[in-house]
Amino acid sequence: MEVLSVASEVYPLIKTGGLADVAGALPLALAETGVTMRTLVPGYPAVVAKLTGGREVAQFDDLFGFRGRLIAGRVDGLDLIVLDVPALYDRPGNPYVGPEGWDWPDNWKRFAALSWVASELGLGLVDGYRPQIIHAHDWQAGLVPAYVKYGPSATLKTVMTVHNMAFQGTYGADVFGQLRLPPHAFSVEGVEYYGGVGYLKAGVECADVVTTVSPTYAAEIRTPAFGMGLDGLLSHRSHTVFGVLNGIDMNAWDPATDKALTRNYTANSLHHRAENKVAVQERFGLEQSNGPLFVVVSRLTWQKGIDLLAGCIDMIVAAGGQLAVLGSGEAELENAVRGAAMRHPGQVGLVTGYNEELSHLLQGGGDVILVPSRFEPCGLTQLYALRYGAIPLVSRVGGLNDTVIDANVAALQAEVATGVQFSPPSEAALADAIKRVLALYADEKLWKKMQRRGMKSDVSWQASAAKYAALYASLIGLDQV
Ligand code: ADP
Ligand code: GLC
Repeated sequence: MEVLSVASEVYPLIKTGGLADVAGALPLALAETGVTMRTLVPGYPAVVAKLTGGREVAQFDDLFGFRGRLIAGRVDGLDLIVLDVPALYDRPGNPYVGPEGWDWPDNWKRFAALSWVASELGLGLVDGYRPQIIHAHDWQAGLVPAYVKYGPSATLKTVMTVHNMAFQGTYGADVFGQLRLPPHAFSVEGVEYYGGVGYLKAGVECADVVTTVSPTYAAEIRTPAFGMGLDGLLSHRSHTVFGVLNGIDMNAWDPATDKALTRNYTANSLHHRAENKVAVQERFGLEQSNGPLFVVVSRLTWQKGIDLLAGCIDMIVAAGGQLAVLGSGEAELENAVRGAAMRHPGQVGLVTGYNEELSHLLQGGGDVILVPSRFEPCGLTQLYALRYGAIPLVSRVGGLNDTVIDANVAALQAEVATGVQFSPPSEAALADAIKRVLALYADEKLWKKMQRRGMKSDVSWQASAAKYAALYASLIGLDQV
C-alpha cells in the first residue's frame, strides 16, 4: 500500500511540536505493517540542508506565481519528497512566523501550494509514483482533501488527521480566487467557513476519514468546548471520525542509550537517574537537593495551563520541591515563570528557547513531569516521561486521560497506577494533585514501583500503526494489508 503523508514539519528535519514527532515516527512504524509511506514536506532551509543526495523529480514554472521543484531523497530512514520553492519556504527560523513573531502574511499561499502539489502527486505527477491514499496532517495540509474532492480522480482517498483544533488556518474569502479550486468549492460542502476560507474545515469536510490523536479528544471535539467551531461538522460525520493514540519513537527515546543523558539507565538501575537529576540542577542553576524535581517541557501557552502552574510554584517550593521549566511562548507566561525563578533562586529555573537535547535530559533527570493542559489532543511529553521513569502529573483531558493511570486508591491497590491526574484544569485542582504527588514521593518504595510500571507501559507505535494500516486498507477496499 502506498500512502503519501503531507506534513508541515517532520522530525528530525524540522520540529516545533508533537506533529513533527508523529510525522517522523509513523512512517517507520508503518513500514513494519507493509505500508509504504512517503512524506511531502516544505523545503525550509533546515530541510533542504539535511537532504543531501536528493534527486529532482518535478519542476514548476508557476506554482502560485513562483518557480519551484520537487526533490526526492532519504533522511534517517524517511522517504521524503521536498517541495523546494525558495520564494515560499526559504526563510529563517520558525516555519510559520516571521522574526517579529507574527504569522507570515502569505501562509495561506505557502500551505495551499503544499496541498495542491500533494494532490498532483496523487494524480501521478511523478513517473512511477502513484499513492493510493494521501494522509494530510493539520490545517497546513487541510486543503489536500478539497483538491482531491474537486479533482479528477475517483479512486484517490484522503485521511485528515487533526493534531490540534486550536489551529485552523482561516482566511478571508478574498484568497479563494487564487486557490485553484472550482467556484462551487466555495460552499458549505467545501472550503467555505463562516464566510471565509477554512483550511482545517476543508480537510474535515472533504476527507474520506478524519482522525485525531486520542480517543478522548475524538469524543471531546464533538462538543462546543473543544470543537472550536467544528464540533457540529464533526458530530455530523461522527461515523467517520476516529481517535488513534500517538506512540513514540522507541529508539530516539530510550533511556538505556540516549546520548543526551549524563547517565543511561533501565528500570533495573533507576538509581542512576540521580546523576541526570544533578545535571538538570546544574543546567537550571538549582541547588542540589533530594526533594522532588518537577519539570516542564512545553510551549508556554494557555492551552498548556502554564498559568495554572505559575500559581502553584510557591507551594511546590514551600514543600521542598524544585522546578525546572524548558520552553517558550506567551510573554506573560514566560514572565510569570521567570518571576518565580527570581523569587526562589536555586529552587526554580527557566531555560527559554527550543533545545531537543535538554528536553531529553529533563525526562531522564526529573522526578515529575507536569502537563496541566486545558486541552491536549494527545500529548507526547507524558509518554516520554513514562518511558523514562518520570511520574506524569497531568490534567484529565484528551490523550492525557488515555495514557496515564491515576494513582487513586483503587488503582494503587490494583497496582496499575502510573501517574496522577487532576480535573478540572484549575489552579486549586492542580494544587491538590501536587500534594498527592508529594505524598507519593515520600513513599520511596511505592514511587519506584510506579516508575517501573510506567516504564513497562506500551507507549510504542505498534498498536496504533496497525490501526492506521487497517484504516487505509478499509479505504481502498482491502480487508488487510
Ligand atoms: P504540542 O505538540 O502541543 O506542543 P506535544 O506534547 O505533543 O505537544 O509535543 C511537544 C514536543 O515538543 C515534545 O517532543 C516535546 O519534548 C517538545 N518540546 C516542547 N517544547 C520544547 C522545547 N522548548 N525544547 C525542546 N523540545 C520541546
Ligand atoms: C498537537 C497537540 C498534541 C499532540 C501533537 C501530536 O501539537 O497539541 O497534544 O500530541 O499534536 O499529535
